Amino acid sequence: MILAIETSCDDTSVALYDGERIHAEITYRQAIHATYGGVIPEWASREHEVRLPQAIREIFSHAQITWEDLRAVAAAQGPGLLGSLLVGYTFAKAIAASSNIPLIGVHHLEAHIASLYLGHEAPLYPFVALVATGGHTHLYLVESPLTYHLVGKTQDDAVGEAFDKIAAWLGLPYPGGPEIENLAKKGNPHAYTFPTPRTEGRWDFSFSGLKSTFLQVRAAHPELTIEDLCASWQERVFRYLTEKAVAYAREAGVPRIALVGGVAANARLRTLWQEGARAANLQAYIAPLRYTMDNAAMIAVAGWHRYVNGLYTPILSAPFARG
Ligand code: KG4
Ligand code: ZN
Repeated sequence: MILAIETSCDDTSVALYDGERIHAEITYRQAIHATYGGVIPEWASREHEVRLPQAIREIFSHAQITWEDLRAVAAAQGPGLLGSLLVGYTFAKAIAASSNIPLIGVHHLEAHIASLYLGHEAPLYPFVALVATGGHTHLYLVESPLTYHLVGKTQDDAVGEAFDKIAAWLGLPYPGGPEIENLAKKGNPHAYTFPTPRTEGRWDFSFSGLKSTFLQVRAAHPELTIEDLCASWQERVFRYLTEKAVAYAREAGVPRIALVGGVAANARLRTLWQEGARAANLQAYIAPLRYTMDNAAMIAVAGWHRYVNGLYTPILSAPFARG
C-alpha cells in the first residue's frame, strides 16, 4: 500500500493505492478562494496545514490500515505553489523518515498523465497527451509511464488560467472553468467566430490574445448574450487544442491522443476530443471525469510506477515551483 499526497495548489488530497486499486481517497477543494478570482497562496498553505492531518487520519480509519501497512509515501513535488507543495511534501518526508519507507517525489504533470491509468481501459503506447490545467498547457509524446517528451507548450497563459481570468472579469467565482462552461451550455457556439491564435513554435499554444479578445468582442457586440459569447469563445479554444493535438499525432505517426487535467472536465471539450480523433482515425483517451481536477489518486498511480522501478527520491530533496 502506498500513501499519496497532493497539495500543489488549492486542493488537499490523499489516497491509498496498492498497485491495482484505490482503497480510499479524500479530496478537499478549498472554497476560501472562490470570491477572490484566483488562489491566495498564503491561505492555500494554511488550509493544507489544517486539512492534511485530518485527511490522513480519516483515510487510515476508512481503509482500516496503520503506518506499518505502508510501503512508500508519494507526494507532489512540483510544479505548483511552493508554500502549498511544502506542506504536503514535508509531511511526506516526515512519514518516510519515521516509518523508514521510501519517499517518492512525483512530478505533478506526470501525475496528470497517470490519471489515464485510473480509467477502464489501459492506454496503449505511444500516445500524444495534452495536459490542460490552470497552470499548464503542455503537449507530450508519451512512450511509457516514465518516458515522455515535451513537444509544445503555451507561450503565455495556461488554458485554465484564461478561463479563470475571464470568469473573474465577469464577476464569477474561482475556479472559472465550470462557470464559463455552465454559461456556454446555454449559448450558441457559432454566434461569433473568434480568431485562431498564432505561435512561433508549431506545437506551442497561446491564450492571452484570445482572452483579451473576449473583452473586446463583448464591448464591440452588445447584441451578443454572455451565453453566446462564452459558448463561442470556448468553442474556438477547444477546437484549437484538439486540432493541434491531432495535427501533431498525424505528423508524428502516433495513432492515439489523450486528454488530461482540470480543463478536461469540460463536457464540450470531451466531445470535441472524441470527434476530432475519430475524424482523423485516431484513438481518443480521456481521463476519468473524477480524476481530471487535482487529486491524490493520480499521484498514487504515478508514484507507484516510480516505486516499482526503484526510483525513490532522497529525503534531502525539496519541492520546486517550476519545471
Ligand atoms: O488540474 P487542475 O485541477 O489544477 C492545476 O493543475 O492547475 O486544473 C484546474 C483548472 C482551473 O483553471 C479550472 O478553471 C479549470 O481547470 N477547469 C475547467 C473546468 N473545470 C475545471 N475549465 C473548463 N471547463 C471546466 N469544466
Ligand atoms: Zn493539476
